[in-house]
Amino acid sequence: MTDVVESVTAFAPASIGNLAVGFDMLGLALTGVGDRVIARRTDGTGVTIAEVRGLDGELHPYLSTDPDHNTASIAAQALWKEYGADGGVELKVHKGIPLQSGMGSSAASAVAAAVAVNALLPNPLADRQLLPYALEGEKYASGGLHADNVAPCLMGGMILCPRVLLPEIIRVPVPKGLSAVLVHPELQVNTAHARRSLAKGYSMEQWLSQQGYLAGFIAACATGNIALIGRTLKDVVIEPQRASAVSCFDAVKAAAERGGALGVSLSGSGPSMFALCKENVANNLATAMEQACRGVGVQCQSWVSPLDAPGAHVET
Ligand code: HSE
Repeated sequence: MTDVVESVTAFAPASIGNLAVGFDMLGLALTGVGDRVIARRTDGTGVTIAEVRGLDGELHPYLSTDPDHNTASIAAQALWKEYGADGGVELKVHKGIPLQSGMGSSAASAVAAAVAVNALLPNPLADRQLLPYALEGEKYASGGLHADNVAPCLMGGMILCPRVLLPEIIRVPVPKGLSAVLVHPELQVNTAHARRSLAKGYSMEQWLSQQGYLAGFIAACATGNIALIGRTLKDVVIEPQRASAVSCFDAVKAAAERGGALGVSLSGSGPSMFALCKENVANNLATAMEQACRGVGVQCQSWVSPLDAPGAHVET
């Protein structure tokens, strides 16, 4: 007989959506920052949320504990409904990722909840099979079906996840010796709003350019061609529409380029910005990007991460 697990804590990392070249279809997991969800079996029915805590450890002032209005419980409900044995699950959501930061905050809560609840099931699914459930939560937050945060958050590393292939996802091999730098300016961008504001039509020129950059970037990663990463890590379609919403964008991008970034762009819908660079310049690059951000009056925080960061996992 399988032992029944009563309580589990899962950690899910922050992530960079789009990764400049692959709007809605390419993402990268980060280290050092993420959300935790504690799931506990109860005698009740369905999924409830006991508490949501913010970065300061206090009860969150406005994230909902209504199970129908929180990405963690929406993901958990989808999984529990399909596979749950008798009884219910109570969640505690502890945010480690700032909200509306472009760091995959809503995705991380959904993934952490799916991973924690999965561990309570009599026959847990493989991590990869949790994707559709975590996506339910993400869909609620962003208003669109995109796995570019959920997939790397769940699986770690760099993941290609075009909507036309879901739920199939593809791990992109990452060259050794590179780092990702993420700078989070203390500003907020609402992803659902940022998505609604995007142009509906694009020119043949834009389509050809972005396809070329995406194809070149994936080939560069697969072959370890760092110079080609530097030529292809570009977003000529979405970034120009969103950059003006981030007051420090130009200053941070210029600093990153001066500091040796292979490419720099918004992380997801922003306001966070990321750069890929050689490992040996990553810390200096993070400092330069932070200084540029503060130089235009915006407080910020940064993280440096390898490109093969681990995905979500159970901690206890
Ligand atoms: N691909 C999504 C977007 C990611 O850019 O709208 C949001 O983090």
